[in-house]
Formats: sequence, C-alpha cells, structure tokens
Amino acid sequence: MSGRLKLGVLVSGSGSNLQALLDACARPDFPAEVAVVVSNMPTAFALERAHRAGVATVVLDHKAFGSRADFEKALAEALVGAGVELVCLAGFMRLLGADFLARFPGRVLNIHPSLLPAFPGLHAQRQALEHGVKVAGCTVHFVDPGMDTGPIIGQAVVPVLPGDDEAALTARILREEHRLYPLVVKQVATGVVRQEGRRVVTEAGPALGEQSLRNPGEPG
Ligand code: GRF
Repeated sequence: MSGRLKLGVLVSGSGSNLQALLDACARPDFPAEVAVVVSNMPTAFALERAHRAGVATVVLDHKAFGSRADFEKALAEALVGAGVELVCLAGFMRLLGADFLARFPGRVLNIHPSLLPAFPGLHAQRQALEHGVKVAGCTVHFVDPGMDTGPIIGQAVVPVLPGDDEAALTARILREEHRLYPLVVKQVATGVVRQEGRRVVTEAGPALGEQSLRNPGEPG
C-alpha cells in the first residue's frame, strides 16, 4: 500500500460516503488509502463500516472536551499520528476552525448535498425543494472555516422530478455523491487539482463539473 496518499476520513453518521471511498481505495490502481476514520459520534454506523474494511478508527466525542480548541487539537493529533496527508469530511457534523485547518493547508475536503453556493448548512435537499429548483446535486470543495463556503472542486447535477420528496431527492443526490467524491480524491491525490488561496487550480484534464454534466456515451 506504500506510495498511496493517506486519507483521514471524518464522520458523524451513516458513512455511505466513507463506504464509497473505502470501495475506491480497495481498487489496486486507486492512488489513496484510508489510514484512519475518526468519528465524533460513538454510535456512528460509519465506524462499523471502517471495522469491516479493517481500517483503524478513533472516537473523539466532542462533548467530552472542554472547548472546541481542545477537541480540534486532539483531532489534529489523531490524524497526524496516523500519517494522514488528506482529510476528507464525509458527513462530519462539526465546523473546523482556522487553527485546525492551518495544520492541513489545502488538504481538507468536504462533500455537501447541494450545488453550492446554494443551500449551505443543514437540510440542503429540503431547502432545494422549498425553493422549487429544477436541478439539484452535490459539491466537493476545499474546506475553509465557513459553513460550506470553501473553493469548489467538483459538482454533479441531478434533476428534481415532479413528486419528489426529501427522501427521494436525497437518495438521487447520494448516488452522485458516491461517484463524485472518489473522483475528486483521485484528482487531489494525483496533483491534478490543488488549492491556491480562494482558487482551485487544475493542472490537466477536464474540470469535474464538465465531466459530471456530460451524458454517458457523449464524446469527451
Ligand atoms: C451526505 O449527504 C453528505 O453530503 C453530507 O452528509 C451526508 C452524509 O451521509 N455532508 P453519509 O454519512 O456519507 O451516508
């Protein structure tokens, strides 16, 4: 497994995006491996997924720490201790502060179930339905201290269909999340994409937004 970028995946819940990353990392040609999964929720099902894949886990219950700074210090130490080179937030329900992010510059990703900058924060799919949008989707972005505000790397689009409820739209978006996140991790791991301040620089190849919007079978 040497030579592959070491991922630290931060979770709080079901961990279906973690599973997509674990599945991608199980492919011999994938340029990354999951070194550790850290959960702030002791009962997160994501921990079970990590155990099944034989990946080390750490539980850091944020409520057990006296301050956010103490929690984030322990989090950073767990990641550094596992040799993590790229941090992937996958349903991790805590904001990360500037001190934490400074320890992993340009090296923290998040996935969000909306076409940012629309509908940041909680219940993005519900917000989209309430606004009557005709397309929805997901976004992978570099993380800054704001709520889903960092530079956008890739997006995937899904239609909003008549009669959709929150569960139906969430499921349709989630299928695209599971496709998009490993694609972006591969681009970051291979150096095709990197963060420069507020910008995302792409070295070669099509931007992920274009790639995601193209229909299967359409020429690249
Ligand atoms: C996903 O919709 C992700 O975009 C959001 O939280 C959800 C986590 O789902 N940040 P899972 O835990 O990966 O199944």
